[in-house]
Order: sequence, then structure tokens, then C-alpha cells
Amino acid sequence: MSPNPPAAVIVLAAGEGTRMKSAVLPKILHTICGRSLVGHAVAAARELAPEQLVVVVGHKREQVTAHLAEADPAVRVVVQEQQLGTGHAARVALEALAADGVALDGTVVVSYGDVPLLTADTLRRLTAAHTADGNAVTVLTAQVPDATGYGRILRGPEGEVRAIVEHKDASAAERAISEINSGVYAFDGKLLVQGLAEVRTDNSQGEEYLTDVLGILREAGHRVGALVADDFRDVLGINDRVQLAETRRIMNDRLLETAMRAGVTVVDPASTWVDVQVTFEPDALIHPNTQLQGSTRLAAGAEVGPNCTLKDTSVGAGARVSNTTADEARIGEGAQVGPYAYLRPGTVLGTGAKAGTYVEMKNAVVGAGSKVPHLTYVGDATIGVGSNIGAASVFVNYDGVSKHHTTIGDHCRTGSDNMFVAPVSVGDGAYTGAGSVIYKDVPAGALGVTRPQQRNVEGWVERKRPGTAAAIAAAAARAAATPAADPEATEAAPGA
Ligand code: UD1
Ligand code: CA
Repeated sequence: MSPNPPAAVIVLAAGEGTRMKSAVLPKILHTICGRSLVGHAVAAARELAPEQLVVVVGHKREQVTAHLAEADPAVRVVVQEQQLGTGHAARVALEALAADGVALDGTVVVSYGDVPLLTADTLRRLTAAHTADGNAVTVLTAQVPDATGYGRILRGPEGEVRAIVEHKDASAAERAISEINSGVYAFDGKLLVQGLAEVRTDNSQGEEYLTDVLGILREAGHRVGALVADDFRDVLGINDRVQLAETRRIMNDRLLETAMRAGVTVVDPASTWVDVQVTFEPDALIHPNTQLQGSTRLAAGAEVGPNCTLKDTSVGAGARVSNTTADEARIGEGAQVGPYAYLRPGTVLGTGAKAGTYVEMKNAVVGAGSKVPHLTYVGDATIGVGSNIGAASVFVNYDGVSKHHTTIGDHCRTGSDNMFVAPVSVGDGAYTGAGSVIYKDVPAGALGVTRPQQRNVEGWVERKRPGTAAAIAAAAARAAATPAADPEATEAAPGA
């Protein structure tokens, strides 16, 4: 069943998160699988298509607000000046909506910014149960192995939810309860406003507890329900960096499991890390120690790894990429990359093209079937189809002030150890000589060569380095080649 979209989802995210011990980041801006914690909360909420999506911010609000404006510009940010409790945070959000004339007819979901494994699916099941049962409030609960610190769900003899008691306020008997409050609820919007108006601060923390609204509404004769999460890990909240790592592991495992069930081979899930926005086609294959980040995409039969870090990079069907770092690169069908290549933004490899061993590329378009096999830097260049770039070449793109472009045509053969001093172009079908510094355009079909004359100084080693192994080897070679030493050899040499 797909329930009506909620009137609002309110994500509470004003807390400081002191246990992260971070001088630079508020807790909810730490990331797992390519998204901030609050980003995960907002993305799940957004899938419910609520009329209002509100995030309550407080600690480091400028940083959080700027982040949210990028992650989801339609989010309404409400500031809670002082963190006076979860009930207070919800009240501040509702008051901001009321001040803007937003009527809350329907369901209001409240959740947290630090519960990244909570899926849109679970939220949907919560609102569906809430609507189907005609509840005033439905709380998402879970059975946990260790309930320390959580609010406990108090149920009556019929199993009905009576109230939530915070750990700090709970008796020993109540602390023995293993069903906990996840902190996520679906409320009737109007009744939430009424209930919050009655919340007091006479508890051990002197805070306005959102949890008290359940008891208040039940006392007033309204229906209070609960949905128990299938898997308690769905509602794990992050408080420190140990939990951050544990949660990242769980989310990564889930993403890889989905990929594997869809036909992707993951040789070693333990050393393979993917972000939420990575996409795969069936028969993609991932070798160990590989990280796929951002919007990276592997097409059918693409083989990546071992030891690759690809960010916002697409890998074409049947392409092979190993021991490579790539950022914003497009790797064509059947192309080959690595081992030990570094593809920087703007690299586009055509069908069957190659960026080989110890090759770096940036802002470079390499045509179909063209190869850059060894020890080469290609920066700011266009290479046509079917060309081969000799080993150990540099596309000299920077004059110290500006960047310049090099163009290599179709079916060229450039020699090893060339410097292409941009701006420069090599025409279709042209060759260049090994060791050349190409600083003038080479016309189509020409050979460009700037090699200086070679001079051999005969006998230099035996004169200048006497007694060395080199001099002894040179003497032996000279003796063996001397015609007088072997009269027969002289006769046998034709045309000498
Ligand atoms: C809360 C619940 C508890 C539940 C637990 C689940 C209450 C009173 N208790 O306890 O029953 O088991 O969550 O994790 O609600 N926040 C604000 N403004 C505030 C206070 C909190 O935005 O003034 C935000 C925090 O940033 C955080 C969330 O609300 O994301 C929870 O606050 P926290 O103080 O951690 O509540 P708990 O004590 O964990
Ligand atoms: Ca908490």
C-alpha cells in the first residue's frame, strides 16, 4: 500500500554531536557511502514526497544550512537557537510552519539527522501503518541487544503502547525492556501541536521530551501505535566514529548485495567500497581493493580493479581498468586503462582506446583505437582515431602562465620520448622521430623530427676510463673485430 504523502517530514538535527570529537565538522555532516548523514535522512524523507521537508538546525548552523542548500535546495531550514530537547525542536519547526501559514492537515513524520540506515521503505511502512490503524501517533520501535541509553517502550497487558520512558528516568524494571524508541514517529499533525503544548520539563534532563507526547495523547483517549522495525540496524543512530564506521560497513554491504543480486560480480566485498549513487550493469566485475565513488557507472562486462579508485567516472561495456585512479573520466567501450594510470577530469577515451602503464591524462580526448601505452603525460589534447603515441612522451601544455592545446590527427605514429610543445598539431597520418621536441606543426603525412646529429668519439672509453669493466669489454670487442687477428674472417667478409 502506498499511503498519501505526509504533510511534513521534520528532521531533527540541531544537536552538537560531541562524541564525534570533531573540530571541523558537525556530526551530521560526516559522510558514509558518498553522502552526509543528514543527506541520507533528507534523501529518504524526500522519497515520501512530503509537502514540507523541514530540517531543524542549531549547532554550526551556517555550515549545515549551506550543505543542505546543495543537497536538497527545497528543504526548509528552521533554526533552534538552544537545544532544549526533542519536543522543543519539533515545536520550533511546527511554529515556523504555522508562522508561514502552512496548515498541517495530515501526517507529520519526525525523524533524526543521524540515522542514515533508515530507508524510505521503512518510513513508508510507518506512515502506512499509521494511516491504516487510524492512530494519533505511531512510533517506530526496535528490539535491540543492548538498550542502554534509549527510551523504552512501555506496553499494557494487551500489548498496547502506553508511553515511552527515557533511560535516565526509567526504573530498574523498565530498563529491562528491550524494545526501544527509535525516535522516528508518524503523528497526526494537529494532535502533535496539541500534545507538544502540554509537554513539561519535569524530568531528569530538564528538557521538553517529544516522547512525552505519546503518553499525553493516550491519556486524552487517542490511539497510539507502534511499528517494530524488521532489523534493528535500520534505526541505528550514530554518536561516535566507531558507529560511523560500523554503519558505513552495513550500508556498503547492502549496496553490494543489491549489485550482486542484479548480476554484478564482486570478488571481495570486504575490500570494495561504493557510494549510493554508483550504478552498474549486469556482468560488471569488480576486483579487490576498489572504491567506486560519486556517480561512477560500470557498463555491462566492464572489469575494474584491483586497486582502483574511480570517482564520477563511467566505464564502457567490456572496458578493462586496473590499478587506476580516475576522476570525472569517460572510458569507452572495450578501452584499456592501467595498470598504474591516472585519469583526471575531462579525459575521454574512445572505443578500444588505451591509456597504459604510468600514463597520466587530463582534459584529453583520445579517439577510437588510439593508444598511449607507456610513461606519458597527455594534458589538454585531442588525439584522433587509430594513432599511437610513443613511450615517455609529454604533452607540454603549460607555458608557466597559460594552458595550450595539442592536436594529434588520425593514424599518426609519434616516436618515443617526444615533447609536444603546445599549441601544436600533428596532421593525419604523420610520423614523428624518437626524441623529438615538436614545437612546429607537422603537416599530414610528414615526418617531424628535431633530433640533433650524433657524434661518436672513437676509443674514448679505453683512453679516459682505463681499467674499468667497460674499457676491458671495449678492448675485447675491438680485438674480436680487428681483421688482422683472423685472416679467414677477412676473406669471408663479402664486399668489405
Ligand atoms: C532520543 C529519544 C529516545 C530515543 C533516542 C533514539 C527523546 C526525549 N528521547 O533520545 O527515546 O530512544 O532518541 O536515538 O526524544 N535534537 C535537536 N534539538 C534538541 C535535542 C535533540 O535537534 O534540542 C536532535 C539531535 O540533534 C539528535 C536527535 O534530536 O539528532 C536526538 O537527540 P538526542 O539528544 O540524541 O536524544 P536521545 O537522548 O538520544
Ligand atoms: Ca542520540
